Amino acid sequence: MSETQFQQGHSVPPQDQNLPGSQSAMGPPPQSEYIPDWDGGYKLYQAAGKLEGRKALITGGDSGIGRAIAILYAMEGADSFITHLPEEKKDAEDTKKFVEKYGRKCHLMEADLTKKEVCRKVVENALQAMGTINILINNHAFQMQVEDIKDLPEDQWEHTFNTNIHAFFYLCKYTLPHMKRGDSIINTASINAYIGRPDLLDYTSTKGAIVAFTRALSNQYIGKGIRVNCVAPGPVWTPLIPSTMSKESQEKFQAPMGRPSQPSEIATCFVFLASMDSASISGQTIHPNGGTVVGG
Ligand SMILES: NC(=O)c1ccc[n+]([C@@H]2O[C@H](COP(=O)([O-])OP(=O)(O)OC[C@H]3O[C@@H](n4cnc5c(N)ncnc54)[C@H](O)[C@@H]3O)[C@@H](O)[C@H]2O)c1
Repeated sequence: MSETQFQQGHSVPPQDQNLPGSQSAMGPPPQSEYIPDWDGGYKLYQAAGKLEGRKALITGGDSGIGRAIAILYAMEGADSFITHLPEEKKDAEDTKKFVEKYGRKCHLMEADLTKKEVCRKVVENALQAMGTINILINNHAFQMQVEDIKDLPEDQWEHTFNTNIHAFFYLCKYTLPHMKRGDSIINTASINAYIGRPDLLDYTSTKGAIVAFTRALSNQYIGKGIRVNCVAPGPVWTPLIPSTMSKESQEKFQAPMGRPSQPSEIATCFVFLASMDSASISGQTIHPNGGTVVGG
């Protein structure tokens, strides 16, 4: 299936991948640089120098939404430092090539962010590589479907929290002392925090925590001119899906608009929230979810 066939009315062809998933093995390939055009096709994202000279630390930037953010940021003039898991080296190197194609730098680091010492090292290395961090994108996550709380292993519950929210706390804590007025933090949450997805109890709980964390941290820092916001995507075609969801769930994987979103369509929200176009927005959540109306 070509990338342009992946349009209105198309769900994804179910596929089976091992964790943490690989973008290069996905078909149809997720869109990172192209966004929908008026006629149901795709056109190259049109940049406007909105992030000229900015430096971004993006976790989970090797693939999916993180990769699309790194690419759109490069098109808008920003360098990036991206973290990835060891198994995702190829995806990370592909992201770096895309960023370099648009004339910007992309630094790579393998990092298991469940450990706070690793979070500290990531921030140190990013500062050393780029000189500063203007934009912190907490984007990595773990999820695994379990239908019933009785079968949800305690280890998984703890791993999901260590990955999805504790790491966000450490990365913010270590980065904020180096941030200044105009800089911003953007956290990736999920529609599941708003709809309460039953087969992702642990993941959904961490995504709710991310929304609340965003609001409270914004209230701490908005007076200093540092904004903290959140993006809560709906279904998006990324490696997370074939590596963590059953074939039945993948068959139903689409938004009210009749298809899943592409990573590029989520990344545009991250451009907006990091740029001065959103200078008066903080503590808020944007919902690129293909048309599910949620409160909050
Ligand atoms: N794909 C969707 O439908 C969807 C929907 C809502 C929210 N999201 C969120 O979008 C974000 C990006 O996910 P994606 O869909 O682009 O998938 P993805 O698989 O491309 O990215 C997830 C990333 O998380 C990273 N990661 C996982 N465990 C880690 C660990 N222990 N340490 C460090 N990094 C780790 C991996 O490097 C991986 O790149 C996640 O926060 C996810 O919850 C995705």
